[in-house]
Amino acid sequence: MKIIHVSAECYPIAKIGGLADVVGALPKYQYQLGADSSVIMPFYNNKFTKTNRFTELHESELKLGHDTIPYSVLRAEAPDLEFPIYFIHIEHLLYKEYVYSDNDVERFLAFQIATMDWILSLENKPDIIHCHDHHTGLIPFMAQESYNYKSLNKIPVITTIHNAQYQGWMSYEYLHKIPEFNSKYLGLLDWNGIINPLAASIKCAWRVTTVSPSYMEELKEQANGLENLLAAESAKCVGILNGIDTDVWNPETDSFIIKNYTKTTVTSGKKANKKWLCKEYDLDETKPLFAFIGRLVGEKGAGLLPKVFNEILKSKDISIFLLGSGFKETETELLYLKNLHSGNYNTYIGYDEKLSHIIYASADFLLMPSRVEPCGLNQMYALRYGTVPVVRSIGGLKDTVVDIDSKGFGICHQDVSIASIIEAIKRASDFYDNKEAFNANRKNIMSLNHSWEVSAKAYLNLYNSIN
Ligand code: ADP
Ligand code: GLC
Repeated sequence: MKIIHVSAECYPIAKIGGLADVVGALPKYQYQLGADSSVIMPFYNNKFTKTNRFTELHESELKLGHDTIPYSVLRAEAPDLEFPIYFIHIEHLLYKEYVYSDNDVERFLAFQIATMDWILSLENKPDIIHCHDHHTGLIPFMAQESYNYKSLNKIPVITTIHNAQYQGWMSYEYLHKIPEFNSKYLGLLDWNGIINPLAASIKCAWRVTTVSPSYMEELKEQANGLENLLAAESAKCVGILNGIDTDVWNPETDSFIIKNYTKTTVTSGKKANKKWLCKEYDLDETKPLFAFIGRLVGEKGAGLLPKVFNEILKSKDISIFLLGSGFKETETELLYLKNLHSGNYNTYIGYDEKLSHIIYASADFLLMPSRVEPCGLNQMYALRYGTVPVVRSIGGLKDTVVDIDSKGFGICHQDVSIASIIEAIKRASDFYDNKEAFNANRKNIMSLNHSWEVSAKAYLNLYNSIN
């Protein structure tokens, strides 16, 4: 079976968040299961594209409204990649140092049109086109309705919603740039008077998946305006829990971390990593270390963290380290806290892949007080590194973390409020003091299996059911 994943991100080529991790792992596991799974993504101007070799497979021009835009399709010749990766190269639109900007309408429209034109030109057509998030949300519509692609309309198109908060809204001034279709189908593009690529993909894809079963249910109640649409389309919707790439995220072999370790050596291994991190960032290594890694946005509950940290550090003997970036106001508050709690608190504002691995390996607890969490990968990385997740029970967090009081292994809280996050940290800190139970739990969580194997099969079964 030939599958093409279409995405704006893919690890290790371009990563902003979990989308990249998923698109960098799912095709690999599908490939291992015997499927011819590949990825097509934009050719950005970044370290990966500058340091690898590429073969040009196809060169042509696409129509974006009245403009004619040259593009090419490249294939990466990187021996480390475990599945084929193709790129759409459009010099002035996609070849940028960033993945996303404030106005990406034309960039991702051109990407999608080039992708469809290229698929049209292929002799050996895919059996499945698998689109990820709103940046690829017009492909299901184009495959179904655009005159140019009529010959592709028997190829099943799947769409996976990684985050329904972002929908790629486009004003009608861009309508003429979408490859021509019968205007009686205009309604498929529209949601509340604006072109909504995510809504269009939900309407037109053959199947819609989200990245955890609980998030699928939650979307029917809260989906940033798409609740009714998702409820109406629920027959073709399914939640499939993300996995993690256990080759990349393996404390035994991870080349980013200070000392590798296994379940047997977890105590000394984590101690060595924690010692390094605490020395580097002036923290007390003898105290339980709580960490946060992520985007500093409302969905992650990040706005509450400065107040939570300030409160808890006054009353509990713990250390806190945060890695993230996002809202400037939150960043400023988090940086300011360093003056008040030096020696017990530090933060690195920015993005650092290596540091994130060291934190998973060093921390005793990982905080995820998310308001919305479609799946969340951090908690699964934490578990694999013997770090106890402290999570708000929502979406994928609800599906992957069970509270210690319910015979589980993590700390869960129901609300996103300063009081409930503080209460959860206190419970975690008490758990840390019970050394025997804490150490046994560490080994136990490292054995939990969140590898992609099961979910990669679930996707293949889904493709087979419509092929
Ligand atoms: P989301 O995609 O919503 O941001 P996920 O939990 O699915 O959340 O995935 C986040 C991914 O991004 C994880 O791999 C996490 O380690 C990584 N990450 C987030 N923020 C940073 C950062 N500042 N530096 C390094 N890695 C980060
Ligand atoms: C999105 C979600 C996150 C999920 C990731 C990968 O970024 O916010 O919860 O884990 O996609 O599917």
